[in-house]
Amino acid sequence: MDRHVLASPIVLAGLTLENRLVSAPMAGVSDRPFRRLVREAGAALVFPEMVSDKALLMGNRKTRDLAAPYPGEKPFPVQLLGRDPQTLADAALKAVECFGVDLVDINMGCPVPKVVSNGEGAALLKEPTLCGRIIERVRRAVPVPVTCKMRLGWDRPRGTELARVAADAGAAFITFHARLRTDSYAVPARWTALAEIVQAVPVPIVGNGDVLEPEDALRMLDETGCAAVMVARGCRGNPWIFSRALRLARRGDPGPPPSARERISAALRHLEMLAADKGERRAVLEMRGHGSWYIKGLPGAAAARARLMKARTVEEMRWTLTFYLDTLEGRRGDAPAAEDLAPAGEGDGPECPTSRG
Ligand SMILES: Cc1cc2nc3c(=O)[nH]c(=O)nc-3n(C[C@H](O)[C@H](O)[C@H](O)COP(=O)(O)O)c2cc1C
Repeated sequence: MDRHVLASPIVLAGLTLENRLVSAPMAGVSDRPFRRLVREAGAALVFPEMVSDKALLMGNRKTRDLAAPYPGEKPFPVQLLGRDPQTLADAALKAVECFGVDLVDINMGCPVPKVVSNGEGAALLKEPTLCGRIIERVRRAVPVPVTCKMRLGWDRPRGTELARVAADAGAAFITFHARLRTDSYAVPARWTALAEIVQAVPVPIVGNGDVLEPEDALRMLDETGCAAVMVARGCRGNPWIFSRALRLARRGDPGPPPSARERISAALRHLEMLAADKGERRAVLEMRGHGSWYIKGLPGAAAARARLMKARTVEEMRWTLTFYLDTLEGRRGDAPAAEDLAPAGEGDGPECPTSRG
């Protein structure tokens, strides 16, 4: 069988990528450990969480931390949120000087009310001329390529018009989340609109929206002609979507889904890396979300998740995950049905040996 184009190298924005899989910026998700894991699984370009231009310029510690790469992280993009062309340009330059970023992406798609009420994120889609000015100004300020991530429009499809503006302004590639600002995730991503944009503009388009299984990644490339595919929700707690999509592209089958052991081992690694990177308190808080994604769909996951939410230390989290795996693998009785793992509550269910009080 011929290898599918998904697994072939591509030069995008001057960066040589070993394949066409991109891991999306996800606020609260794409932290450094997450990025290491999806990179190891094969994503060729991995975005960190978006950061505010103003917060970066003010030297906000949390923002600087969000924007920093892990040692050796290459290529390293940054995604900026803002609206004023000069402020965005200044923040982009700071990101290049402080962190050596290889690419600056401008967020033109965030739908969150707090963001759009400032005229940022998806609100920019209502002002194509401003989108163009932003890209031009940032391009002139930094020695690295500038890209943007858009939706198809605010409340009506105008993706081709927006893409032309971004292309004319010099965007090195344009990522489209194939929805409108007013679409919820329940509305299927509009891949036909992606295909039209690909035909209409000379700049590479990265397609995004509803790539939730390995097969979807190949299908999106086939159906839209996009240069690459960006995955967001599909890789939360699931770095294997990348390795399995690559295997599907190379060998014609994605291989088996990850076992409970693989999933919980990855969760444990994520936890250890988070603790080393951010310290115990933040690791415990941030692992609540990640941990839930790693175990989603396993038998008894709801109860195990409830225990993760209650864990107060890295040791308690480690123990909860290990105990859960032992239970699933039958070392602590039979593999559980949901009701076999008692809901976490005072005094019931297994007790972590190191728990106090
Ligand atoms: C938890 C979460 C956080 C997100 N944060 C960002 C962000 O920081 N920047 C951005 O451009 N998009 C963000 N998005 C949107 C995704 O990058 C992506 O465009 C969208 O989820 C559609 O892709 P999917 O169908 O693969 O999930 C976020 C999405 C989720 C679910």
